[in-house]
Amino acid sequence: MVKVGSFSAAVLALGVISPSIASYNGSHVIYVPTVETWDNGMGSLTTYFHSVNSDYAHLYEHNYLDKRDTVEVYTSVVVAGTSVILAAYAGLEIYEYVAEVIKQRSNADVCSLTYGDYTDGERIEGYAYRATTTGTNCQTTALESAIYAALRRCANKLHKGGATTGCCKFRHGGSWTGHLRLSAEPKKHPASDITCPS
Ligand SMILES: *[C@@H]1O[C@H](CO)[C@@H](O)[C@H](O)[C@H]1NC(C)=O
Repeated sequence: MVKVGSFSAAVLALGVISPSIASYNGSHVIYVPTVETWDNGMGSLTTYFHSVNSDYAHLYEHNYLDKRDTVEVYTSVVVAGTSVILAAYAGLEIYEYVAEVIKQRSNADVCSLTYGDYTDGERIEGYAYRATTTGTNCQTTALESAIYAALRRCANKLHKGGATTGCCKFRHGGSWTGHLRLSAEPKKHPASDITCPS
């Protein structure tokens, strides 16, 4: 009986492993951040779930996490009664706006934090953005359209995973890294208060 049970679990794990490797322990989602390439493989996007809406926690219940195989494991608190980060199609204006902000900061060569809440009159989302560099400037050659595409991917990932707050880290070759935090509940959880791995 035990053998049959563990065999089923292994089969199940194979079916659900691709979106994210994670587990849910009743109060936290424990997960490995996903790293994807963007802009034709010229850069990478890493998505972090900072907090997850409790209605979505079941998504993580049957996933498989083998801590022995993982280097980076993060936890995400599960919260009830919250909104979820807008999918790309639902938040077109905000994501266009944020992509523009990211490109403008790059053009101006500024690393410092900028943040705010964006509303289209109906929906609201908070963002906080800064850049870091291992070199001497905070510029990226990534086109605004490529940044926007990566940002949409990030938003969709956070939305599907039921994130209320989350982060995306963008790299595009060179020394630049873009750090974006998003909050679906900017009044309760301002994006600038979210802590994500740097
Ligand atoms: C769930 O995981 C979090 C983060 O690792 C931990 O703080 C918490 O104590 C865990 N809860 C249970 C019930 O194991």
